Amino acid sequence: MSVGVGLGSTEIDSLISHAYPFRLVDHVSQLVEYKSCLGTKYIGFNEPFFQGHFPKNPIMPGVLQVEAMAQAACALASYSLKSDGHDVPDNTLFASIDQAKFRKPVYPGCRMDMHIEVLRWSGKIAAISGKAFVNEDLVCEAQFKAAFWSSNEYTLSIIKPDAFQAGFAEDIIKILHINGLDIATESANGIQVLLKRRVKLSFEDAAAFYGVHSERPFFKDLCTFMSSGDCLVMVLKGHNAIARYREVMGATNPSQAAHGTIRSLYAKSIDENAVHGSDSLENAHKEINFFFPEFKKLSHSS
Ligand code: CMP
Repeated sequence: MSVGVGLGSTEIDSLISHAYPFRLVDHVSQLVEYKSCLGTKYIGFNEPFFQGHFPKNPIMPGVLQVEAMAQAACALASYSLKSDGHDVPDNTLFASIDQAKFRKPVYPGCRMDMHIEVLRWSGKIAAISGKAFVNEDLVCEAQFKAAFWSSNEYTLSIIKPDAFQAGFAEDIIKILHINGLDIATESANGIQVLLKRRVKLSFEDAAAFYGVHSERPFFKDLCTFMSSGDCLVMVLKGHNAIARYREVMGATNPSQAAHGTIRSLYAKSIDENAVHGSDSLENAHKEINFFFPEFKKLSHSS
């Protein structure tokens, strides 16, 4: 009786970045999170690599057998991380290949079964043992290490009372989406919940959030303004989200904000400047934690 999860081609596509003509795993079965899986590769006569390796006597290159095992391992790693609430890695790199042995040639027209076992996880790197079989004959074995990570970054956005009360929130969110900044989600009891919340800050909340500015002459006015009405707070997710969002917001003073930026379109003055965004990774973590202490992904997003 087989145990574990099975993944078809479409699910594998959503988990690994490899694509035609370099997708070398067709099916994954018996997947046990963070531990093991069985990858399957059907080797047809029309595989692109047989055109050159070798037309008169086609054999699957040994390095591609190892690559196929690594792709099965990648599906295992991505599935495990995703089930655990992490982002699906969009970066995968080999770190090492050891003890690779090629026992028998692999000819077109066969099915290669790849037994993948995780030996160790250490941060972003997994050490893996792979054994590939054709008709129960061992054809290839290797141990390898691969690194898996997501380039997603998270940042905090506030649509401030001026812009929120003027009804600009939906238009601002559209600009964010167009610029590759999506509202992050968190899984709660199996349901994906958007990290987007309408809040009314008290003066004290605003003072705590903007504590870094407590010695600045504008501090009191800033806290009064931020507590004058509802705001929309959101966690934004995207590639280089912190810098990207700052670019999309425009300069703090809207009179200096570049054409087309949020502040150039919707802000009135430096005091009422429509939006806030974190200015560094460290502050993004602090600020997200201020409004969304339940957000778990931060611990492995950097
Ligand atoms: P924000 O990005 O939310 O960070 C702090 C806020 O203080 C800033 O946007 C402005 O709205 C407000 N502020 C008022 N005066 C100044 C100033 N001289 N320099 C920077 N920020 C200011």
